[in-house]
Amino acid sequence: MSSPLLAEATRIAREFDYPADQVQRGVAEYIRQSNEGLAKENTTLSQIPTFVTAVPNGTEKGLYLAVDLGGTNFRVCSVQLHGDTTFSLTQSKIMIPRELMASGTSKDLFTFLARQIEAFLRIHHNEHFEAHQRRRREGHEEEELFDLGFTFSFPVRQYGINSGTLIRWTKGFNIPDAVGHDVCALLQSAIDHLDLPVRVAALVNDTVGTLMARSYTSPGETGTLIGAIFGTGTNGAYVEKLENITKLKHIKDAHYDTHTGEMIINAEWGSFDNQLSVLPSTIYDRDLDADSNNPGIQMFEKRVSGMFLGEILRRALLDLYNNAQLFKATETSVPSDSFLHRQWGLDTSLLSDVEGDTLPQMPKIKAALKEHLAIENPTDDDCKAVKILTHAIGKRAARLSAVPLAAVLIHTGKLDTDDIVDVGVDGSVVEFYPNFEGHLRDALREVPEVGVAGDKKVRIGISKDGSGVGAALIALVASKDETLKNP
Ligand code: GLC
Repeated sequence: MSSPLLAEATRIAREFDYPADQVQRGVAEYIRQSNEGLAKENTTLSQIPTFVTAVPNGTEKGLYLAVDLGGTNFRVCSVQLHGDTTFSLTQSKIMIPRELMASGTSKDLFTFLARQIEAFLRIHHNEHFEAHQRRRREGHEEEELFDLGFTFSFPVRQYGINSGTLIRWTKGFNIPDAVGHDVCALLQSAIDHLDLPVRVAALVNDTVGTLMARSYTSPGETGTLIGAIFGTGTNGAYVEKLENITKLKHIKDAHYDTHTGEMIINAEWGSFDNQLSVLPSTIYDRDLDADSNNPGIQMFEKRVSGMFLGEILRRALLDLYNNAQLFKATETSVPSDSFLHRQWGLDTSLLSDVEGDTLPQMPKIKAALKEHLAIENPTDDDCKAVKILTHAIGKRAARLSAVPLAAVLIHTGKLDTDDIVDVGVDGSVVEFYPNFEGHLRDALREVPEVGVAGDKKVRIGISKDGSGVGAALIALVASKDETLKNP
């Protein structure tokens, strides 16, 4: 017999069900919103033209710099592309001080970034650095600059391969004075202020980098179609026919190469269905959104990505704690400062740890509750209740993730041929949450236009280092082709 606690946990878990008919409605609506985004500006799905018009084939060569701003760490790296689908990468990772993410000015932030680039160059490419300064002193006109790919994983309105203005911050960043400004120009001016031998050659979303990196390292007959991130945030990029991007006609002064007839689109699918016409919503989703710093925005992301899954779980657990005797046994202790009581207190890795425990004694769940929530001696029913909710929240996230994938597969018509369709993915959720891909594929097959046959054609592979090697590849494209640069 199930205890009242488990019965209540099961009832709440059912609220996270996302059945086949809802998946199908989601896909239809995604296709509608994505077409709208290709036609005009200021739509829910931004469908940002990236001005990247070709995917690599593994033969690209050269040394490039890449930096990545998009999560809690800032990454600087240099990438040597060997031209045989392999590369070597040297990198450093620096935690971004919280005050720079959410309260300082854009100047503070970009100066910090430029300083990290300087430190990296001094350690790893000092000869280049000193040669540059020597040439400067001697008054040489000719400059030998590193081309840098700037992975900036926030929504930007792109005007060329190396320029774009920030539309809004996401994932907890909030530096209002940067909104509306060209982030490449901001970085270049901070770099120039320190007199570094670096030219910001390309602006790159992490999903576009993921797509490019995957296409370089696993080239196939047709190249990679989709690059997707399921990590702190979620988003995807895909290869679109130029003729479908009808809003490009309105982008004045845009320079791009048209010979492939294609361009990568950054969908910004974290914002899919902000109006909640088809997305599922529980009371926990609604409260999380109301208490966030951007209510009404990134509604898909708030149900799918790492930054939010822990908080959904925390709210559901708190409900059980307040109303259904969770963690209330006499031997159990929940300190008053436990992260159970703190907004954003739960890291998504808790979900992965809990879901990964299949043993009857539930040792990993107990350890995770102790590590993440400082809870001692939970009962077996406590652990089972946590598992029931975790499973439901993670499974819904994975099934929701099938929606944009199915929509892009259908919209591009790529399942209509016999070719394999390649999808590169990255991010902590897809990498570490057990069976994320399995749940995602279950939902994909439930979409009639994909079905079992379509699912078999889809090859999903982890694409590491999109923000490094992918950004380098785009810097390469940009530096080689003068027509891509915005005057
Ligand atoms: C957020 C950003 C998007 C990025 C994604 C994954 O959704 O808006 O640009 O690609 O997170 O990092």
